[in-house]
Amino acid sequence: MTRGYFITFEGLDGSGKTTQLRLLDASLTAAGHKVVSLRQPGGTVLGDRIRGILLDSRSEDSLGPIAPATEMALMFADRAQAIAEIIEPALTVGNIVLCDRYTDSSEAYQGGGRQLGSERILAMHAAACGNLQPDLTILLLPSLEASLRRARRRNQRHTQQQGTDENRFERESDEFYRRIYEKYEEIAAREPRRVLPIRDEATIDQIHTRILEVIAARLPSVTA
Ligand code: TMP
Repeated sequence: MTRGYFITFEGLDGSGKTTQLRLLDASLTAAGHKVVSLRQPGGTVLGDRIRGILLDSRSEDSLGPIAPATEMALMFADRAQAIAEIIEPALTVGNIVLCDRYTDSSEAYQGGGRQLGSERILAMHAAACGNLQPDLTILLLPSLEASLRRARRRNQRHTQQQGTDENRFERESDEFYRRIYEKYEEIAAREPRRVLPIRDEATIDQIHTRILEVIAARLPSVTA
């Protein structure tokens, strides 16, 4: 059986990556592909618990400040579990796997934002993930200013509507987000074959069409 295809979506909070992932899942599924979608952190029972600790701004009230290295290790604990439980089994049976964030997020947020540096993240990726790399990464990178505006709006809405608080990262400073943005740029420049940056602010449908075209060019079984 041919191995499946592993696609990740990356970008700052509010970049629109989750919307694009859902659209791609729907298009590929409608075309008869077997698609498995997940998000990080989360996606497994263990991962959802880790997500609760990492993203809830109230966690630090009860647990105390989370050290950057702890944050990194928890992200990778989540990822190792998702690979073992979901990603690797799905790829083995030939499915297309769509993952909302992956190791590039750790490199950008913990490596760049928290200033741990890329080397530590990549070493952790080798140790915890056996270096499993996506075949393709869609990096949604509209301007920093636009992304920040969207992230703040989205998070306020989320907290008001659902009573849940995924605010811990969004409380960070603009400088934190600037470092993340620059690290994403660095990753895209380093790995141009894997990472497809989409910088323009086209409509949701236009971006979706573009993503489908890129995947069709790489996967003969997919038509745009
Ligand atoms: P999201 O589900 O809305 O994308 O939010 C996940 C948050 O977690 C986002 O602020 C980025 C952050 N994150 C990291 O800092 N490192 C990681 O490795 C991952 C997967 C997410």
